[in-house]
Amino acid sequence: MKEETFQDYYYNQVCFSTRDHPYSKDPKHVWVISRYKDSWLLTKHPSRGVEFPGGKVENGEHPDEAAVREVYEETGGVVEHLYYIGQYKVAGKAETVVKNVYYAEVATLEKKSSYHETEGPKLLTELPSSIRKNKKYSFIMKDNVLPLSMKEIYIRFFAG
Ligand code: GTP
Repeated sequence: MKEETFQDYYYNQVCFSTRDHPYSKDPKHVWVISRYKDSWLLTKHPSRGVEFPGGKVENGEHPDEAAVREVYEETGGVVEHLYYIGQYKVAGKAETVVKNVYYAEVATLEKKSSYHETEGPKLLTELPSSIRKNKKYSFIMKDNVLPLSMKEIYIRFFAG
């Protein structure tokens, strides 16, 4: 897929591509579409709502390491396999954010006493078709990044 451009929930311009790191070799954000057994593994952010886990890459950390860490911190999920899916760039009002999207297969789900600023794991056998209109879901789930990433994941990991 070449580049797709669209607006996000807040009308910021977004570019998404499944190419190899088209916007930054050193992205500062990660987002991880996670799978545990037969379910999607999400988390509940106290203000944004339900979303796939993710966050900022720490100083000295590789984005892949950040992806594994964020899944564990926010859900207790231990990532067994991590696959790069694509990258997107959001031209925000104040700054431009570049984020790697991954697909993660989680081997075990540990119960923890706290989930690093989130309300912990949320398992869904199906993602609802009406996420965009659903107040329970985070704005980061409400633009074309999610369906474009899911399309790529289905082609690479679920088709035939
Ligand atoms: P903290 O610093 O963690 O408090 O968060 P922040 O929202 O201030 O900063 P962050 O760098 O995470 O994001 C800055 C802005 O970029 C956000 O306000 C959004 O407008 C945008 N942004 C960040 N992540 C995403 C995303 O996954 N999707 C979309 N559409 N926009 C995003």
